[in-house]
Amino acid sequence: MCGIVGYVGEKKATPILINGLLRLEYRGYDSAGIAVLEKDHIDVRKDIGRVKNLQENNHVEELSGTTGIAHTRWATHGKPSKENSHPHLDNSKNFAVVHNGIIENYSELREFLTKQGYTFYSQTDTEVIPNLIHYYYHKNGDTSLVNGFLRAVTDTCKVLKGSYAIEVLNKDFPNTVIVVRKDSPLVIAKGDKENYIASDIPAILSYSKDFYLLEDNEFAIITTDEIHFYDADLHEHEKHVKSIEWDASASEKDGYEDYMLKEIFEQPKAIRETIGTRFQDYICRFEELPFTKEYLQSLTQIYIVACGTAMHAGLVAKNMIEKLCHIPVTVDIASEFRYRNPLITSHTLCIYISQSGETADTIAALKLAKAQGAKTLAISNVIGSSITREADYSIYTHAGPEIAVASTKAYTAQVTLLSLLGIYFAQLLETSTKEDLSVLQNAILALPNQIAEVLKEENLHILQNIAKKIYQEKDMFFLGRGVDYCVALEGSLKLKEISYIHSEAYAAGELKHGPIALIESGVTVISILTDKALTPKTVSNIQEVITRGAKTVVITNDEENIDMNHYDFVVTIPKTSSYVSPILSVIPMQLLSYYIAKEKGLDVDKPRNLAKSVTVE
Ligand code: F6R
Repeated sequence: MCGIVGYVGEKKATPILINGLLRLEYRGYDSAGIAVLEKDHIDVRKDIGRVKNLQENNHVEELSGTTGIAHTRWATHGKPSKENSHPHLDNSKNFAVVHNGIIENYSELREFLTKQGYTFYSQTDTEVIPNLIHYYYHKNGDTSLVNGFLRAVTDTCKVLKGSYAIEVLNKDFPNTVIVVRKDSPLVIAKGDKENYIASDIPAILSYSKDFYLLEDNEFAIITTDEIHFYDADLHEHEKHVKSIEWDASASEKDGYEDYMLKEIFEQPKAIRETIGTRFQDYICRFEELPFTKEYLQSLTQIYIVACGTAMHAGLVAKNMIEKLCHIPVTVDIASEFRYRNPLITSHTLCIYISQSGETADTIAALKLAKAQGAKTLAISNVIGSSITREADYSIYTHAGPEIAVASTKAYTAQVTLLSLLGIYFAQLLETSTKEDLSVLQNAILALPNQIAEVLKEENLHILQNIAKKIYQEKDMFFLGRGVDYCVALEGSLKLKEISYIHSEAYAAGELKHGPIALIESGVTVISILTDKALTPKTVSNIQEVITRGAKTVVITNDEENIDMNHYDFVVTIPKTSSYVSPILSVIPMQLLSYYIAKEKGLDVDKPRNLAKSVTVE
């Protein structure tokens, strides 16, 4: 939510800031703004809507300063408007601030500042920050860099409640930006006579591969040549730079029309790299995990906690882990888990899944379980992300940066990694036979080529054709049983996110218990059939909707057991183990949502109201 960029160096800051904003736009796109330190003042330019509006309509090219901060907004407090856009200035126009996060006690702080004579020009929570910095700067009366400027920022943070990643410019300190984070991401890239700041690594990966990942309540003073780190009491400390292996081109569109399409096509690679070298001599290895047979045997409960698509990956894993390992697994939505007083003991293992590793609810749910004595395991796509720093143990998907707001390759990589984890647990526990596990291993190893098969031209035409026929509809349903129900939830989420068509996913057997009342002529029902044992049951449910006039799309690898001519559209996928079939069956649904959104002329990478990384509650 909201993207932040910063630059301190010898080049003109504006093109670098705009370029960074364009790459971060998926984090928010209600409005955008930049503040550049010019000779004797801070110049702020803002506009509503996309970064392009800021770039094209505000003469930003006339700014010549070499130090600046920038922001692309996902509105929380105050509607998208010029005055609510960041950067925000204090009343004296000495300080400029951009902020990602939420200041929960902003009303109280605003009241305090108003009593001190400050005036507010926006409805945002952020505007208290530059004014508080100004207040403390003058109250402390020290105008030096550390004891003056930095102290004013640390004093301000001591009274802020909530989450924040903040960049601050001070008119009196050319070539200097101060940054801090708490529960919102911020990274610093080290260059040669220049340094970069951003909410995430891909935004500035083309400039440097050497990153500092800021910790909570850690402050940094960034100048052209140096970066110094401090705690809230102004004690300076050393920090190690981390080299990032991602290829800069991984965050480019690479000839694809949209990031989402590119990321759908990257799935064979993402799965291959997530499997990596974990299988050796038919043993699945997780050398970074310290689990023993005794520990796993002591578990009475595994919780898998996540949001959205990541939670859907957890549902697929529940089925597998329970069957392979005989441990009860509960999948929880993070925002529910954190407030429902879950039963947590030292015999509980909590697994948290987060592509970004920055989702506020998932992080809070992790902190809660850790405080109550459970072991916590994070699954993320971003090395060094907040969740991996909080968790006892971390393992990674290797999907590469996911830029499109709608998650695709992260989901299939998460299901893959969770399958490997299931096998690893089952091996330790000896709860499944070697034969069963090696069948599953072979199925997993075959997935990259099978995904490539699903992505072949012929299937794309079929799906494009279906999209043309159904894109104007208002309601759709997704049906499945067992693991097909888990993936139906993901198919339905993809469709609503990017096509804005109302859709619901139901366990096929549940249809008769209410939702069938909504089925009538013109409604499309998409069914997934990949579990032979359940095919006849789901086929009967599809028949019930056909009888009521629904159009039907069937996604299946069980052609032998269905009458292929009975449905309006059939998409076939390769056969695989039912534990991992969602990795294949989700792909036609990702593509169908994509083509439907394209037919409707929508921006698939940046669907309305959404942001890639939900760093607020
Ligand atoms: C949907 C989607 C979201 C995310 C959710 C969690 O396409 O991308 O539902 O899955 O916001 O995000 P992470 O995995 O970053 O915690």
